[in-house]
Amino acid sequence: MEFSDTVRRRRMVRRFDQRPVPADVVDRILDLARRSPTAGFAQGVDFLVLDTPETVADFWRITDDREFPMSDEFLAAGPTVIVLPIADHRRYTARYSEDDKADFGLQDADAWPVKFWDVDASMAAMTALLAAVDNGLGGWFFGISEHERELLDHFGVPDGIRPIGVIGLGYRADDETPTGSGSSRQRRPLDEQVHRNGW
Ligand SMILES: Cc1cc2nc3c(=O)[nH]c(=O)nc-3n(C[C@H](O)[C@H](O)[C@H](O)COP(=O)(O)O)c2cc1C
Repeated sequence: MEFSDTVRRRRMVRRFDQRPVPADVVDRILDLARRSPTAGFAQGVDFLVLDTPETVADFWRITDDREFPMSDEFLAAGPTVIVLPIADHRRYTARYSEDDKADFGLQDADAWPVKFWDVDASMAAMTALLAAVDNGLGGWFFGISEHERELLDHFGVPDGIRPIGVIGLGYRADDETPTGSGSSRQRRPLDEQVHRNGW
């Protein structure tokens, strides 16, 4: 598929066929995702992959909003694979403590004006979403609104590091149609968004 077609075809898919995605397809997607740029080549992005019905069910059970629980209908068409791109600031402060980076003064996570570990995890997530399209899958990026630390503890993620969000992957359901803000709002015109040689 042409790169520009991959970009244009990508949109968030929120209803999935329940056919399992082979592990090697997920690995292919994440192998591309980890080739995204990282500051100082710190490579501080890890991926927690949940790809069994049990672990995916654990994900929804733990993160569900107890007041507004997910409907059975929603869960029956959920992504069959959940990937958490986890940004590890410790790899960045360690990398920027090395001789060639020490002068930047970024040995402490609080000193970073932009948290490059979150930037890098976002870049990896975008690559994963595009790679999903290229591999015939749908992808859905969304945030965790409830019980994030409980979720991370359940899956043994070390204290102090966290995901930037969630990537749901799977085969698009036959009856899936675009939903969400992207389907109900107009894209801004290019010349409104691009400020050439000044704002
Ligand atoms: C940082 C970020 C957070 C998002 N959070 C959610 C979310 O929590 N739930 C959801 O359904 N979609 C979420 N989205 C998807 C956006 O709604 C979607 O990308 C946007 O409406 C444009 O649609 P498209 O990606 O289908 O082109 C998120 C996207 C981004 C980049």
